[in-house]
Amino acid sequence: MNETRSYFSAWKAPSNLAIVKYWGKKGIQEPVNPSISMSLSESVTTTRVKAVPRERGSVTFRLNNREAPAFLARIEKFIINLQDRLPFLSQYHLEIDSQNTFPHSSGIASSASAMCTLTFCLADLQQQIDPSRSIHIEEVSSIARLGSGSASRSVFGGWNLWGRTTVIPESSDHYAVPLEVAPVFQNYHDDVLIIDSSQKSVSSSHGHALMNHHPYREGRISQALENTTQLLKHLQSGNTEDFTEVAESEALSLHGLMMSSSPGYTLLRPGTLEVIHETRKFREKTGIPVAFSLDAGPNIHLLYPGSFQEEINKWEETTLKQFCENGQIIRDRVGKGPEKIIETTGVGPEEKQI
Ligand code: PMV
Repeated sequence: MNETRSYFSAWKAPSNLAIVKYWGKKGIQEPVNPSISMSLSESVTTTRVKAVPRERGSVTFRLNNREAPAFLARIEKFIINLQDRLPFLSQYHLEIDSQNTFPHSSGIASSASAMCTLTFCLADLQQQIDPSRSIHIEEVSSIARLGSGSASRSVFGGWNLWGRTTVIPESSDHYAVPLEVAPVFQNYHDDVLIIDSSQKSVSSSHGHALMNHHPYREGRISQALENTTQLLKHLQSGNTEDFTEVAESEALSLHGLMMSSSPGYTLLRPGTLEVIHETRKFREKTGIPVAFSLDAGPNIHLLYPGSFQEEINKWEETTLKQFCENGQIIRDRVGKGPEKIIETTGVGPEEKQI
């Protein structure tokens, strides 16, 4: 190899919250059912990658200024599997540095934003090194999917669908597609109530694997297909009441599937159930369409139209904070999606929307 130059790329990408949940895999990291998510605005990962020419590909990785051996092993595997698609990877050493804006184990999926930013950096580096290789956004989503399924949905802002459904002809099991939604959903909020920040006892990858022989597998696939069809309708019409029904049914089903796996497990905590109960009471009393959702953990995501922010924040302070670990609530909302970061020395990073 004659190349002696180093290359650099930096990107910022959001985490996302799935309303219809991806739970169970087939083939090479393809979902058994479609999923729909909103990309977040505040919960983001920024990744900087320096590619230095070497005889063979290799990687170093730092997360929030520290070594992160478990995630490094995952990145190494991801990169080795990508060498055919992004040939520069076999001839460069990568120095990867990632920073999350949100705490670890906060109930916000860090693998989605981390794998998504990393993929944007790798695609960018491949194109810098070989300008004849153009990489479309669908390919970025498809590559990010191989790192973490949910990362495929973080390549766009707003609302996104990953997985094949006959309702959206352009949908695919390989990559996500962006969705048009009514104005109310363009400013939807997601307040994350941290009930318990300790490490999950069962990882999502193990949870996906338990779906292979799950007694309710077929029923779950039909339910997710139906909830996808319904949610697409509600997102378009702006029906927040019906949205709430689908969101809560999906959250409870996800945890019901975990409990009825073999072996079964429970990630919910007493505080999770208290907040679910309080949410239903508050909705009934005020008529405000606030929904709870859950990721694969005990923390609650409260979803509501931005116009109700004041009422919801007051209720969180008076009633819900007592159930949160150290009173912790992360306030987020629908975001605009990934951005390339242009580093200009001396002046600080300048951010550019793609
Ligand atoms: O992308 P993974 O492999 O971390 O799985 C994500 C699974 C859920 O977060 C529970 C649901 C989803 O669709 O994001």
